[in-house]
Amino acid sequence: MVADFTYYTPTKVVFGKNAEAETGSLVKMQGCKKVLVHYGSESARKSGLLGKITTSLRNEGIDFVELGGVVPNPRLSKVHEGIELCRKEGVDFILAVGGGSVIDSAKGIGYGLYHGGEVWDFYSQKRPIEGCFPIGCVLTLAAAGSEMSNSSVITNEDGNLKRGANNDASRLKFAIMNPELTYTLPAYQTMCGAVDIMMHTMERYFINEPSMHLTDELAEGLLRTVVHYAKVLKKNPMDYDGRANLMWASSLSHNGLTGAGNAGRGDWAPHQLEHEMGGMFDVAHGAGLSAIWDSWARFVFDQNPERFARLGEKVFSLSRTADVESDALKAIETFHDFFVSIDAPTNFKELGINPTEAEIEEMSEKCTFFGKRTLGNIKVLGKEEIKTIYTNAARA
Ligand code: NZQ
Ligand code: ZN
Repeated sequence: MVADFTYYTPTKVVFGKNAEAETGSLVKMQGCKKVLVHYGSESARKSGLLGKITTSLRNEGIDFVELGGVVPNPRLSKVHEGIELCRKEGVDFILAVGGGSVIDSAKGIGYGLYHGGEVWDFYSQKRPIEGCFPIGCVLTLAAAGSEMSNSSVITNEDGNLKRGANNDASRLKFAIMNPELTYTLPAYQTMCGAVDIMMHTMERYFINEPSMHLTDELAEGLLRTVVHYAKVLKKNPMDYDGRANLMWASSLSHNGLTGAGNAGRGDWAPHQLEHEMGGMFDVAHGAGLSAIWDSWARFVFDQNPERFARLGEKVFSLSRTADVESDALKAIETFHDFFVSIDAPTNFKELGINPTEAEIEEMSEKCTFFGKRTLGNIKVLGKEEIKTIYTNAARA
């Protein structure tokens, strides 16, 4: 039976060529007085995007202050810096210009400004979130889906802990999405983005509970689309339709649409496994996901081979046989081959990391929040199972 659900997507999406020209007027509609323009290392300045945005703000008479320097796997220290700057400058709106890392950092700043006190408390689940300062974004990378999700993931340098904080208060007021802004992405980041988009839908797909027929079909259609356009973009990074499809898929894959009406909340073990890899080894999130996927999928599929087999049939048109386990394995192999075809790493070696046994032990311990939780839905994973999955990815 279809499960009850709440679908909450308050973010206004302005999508298309030159959409960033509307930044000033969209910010003005928020009725704020001073904006923090938050961005990453260099891509937004180099491409001229920051200049266009600040011009658009000036044209609307909006005062702003800038803070760049957000790095992939965004750091808590930058969030602290942003909170301090915003307090000093009287900022009342945050504009993130970038990908998931910049948006997540903006959400961290938003939480900190709203509550006061130590913002890490929300990522370590010490205090409940009650609100967030308003945030908008100009998206430059189709991947994390943070532009429409209720999630923020921050890395605390003290202990290299990468943790998420989820609350609807952090959902963006608006998201400006011009697919052309992603033309400048290195091929590696486009690939990482495609994997992350797929995983947000696949995490919601792998459940043992009943699912909604429409949601399954939407999920499978989204995955087929990303598989198709990831290959198109590998050949031609300037393909507008490819960029547009990936950008919209990024948002739809993580705004709740591809899980609505499903009874389980999803699996999410691959994401949690990756977060420890990102925290300890600073790998790109999407690359970490494809590097752990094969090992995870082979470890868990026997709990629900039908779900894997169906995905292979729907996404890659694999024919079904009487043997569901072998169909499931064929599906896992086909996803693996697809990742290889877009140059996504499929094990730790290809990811460029070589964790020692002690490091695998440490990642596994951290992954259970030091013994406080298990992972997964399709198969529940404790520390020993987590260790096996990491070890298999290291040995592959
Ligand atoms: O810093 P700059 O110079 O801008 O370079 C960035 C960065 O090095 C570059 N880039 C971005 N747009 C570009 C560009 N380069 C050229 N042209 C452009 N148009 O890309 C690099 C990666 O950026 P980043 O923001 O880190 O990538 P992504 O969007 O994949 O975000 C990854 C982060 O999001 C988290 C991940 O864990 C990771 O920390 N996630 C956030 C989620 C959420 N909030 O809902 C969900 C995800 O599952 C994920 O965990
Ligand atoms: Zn992700």
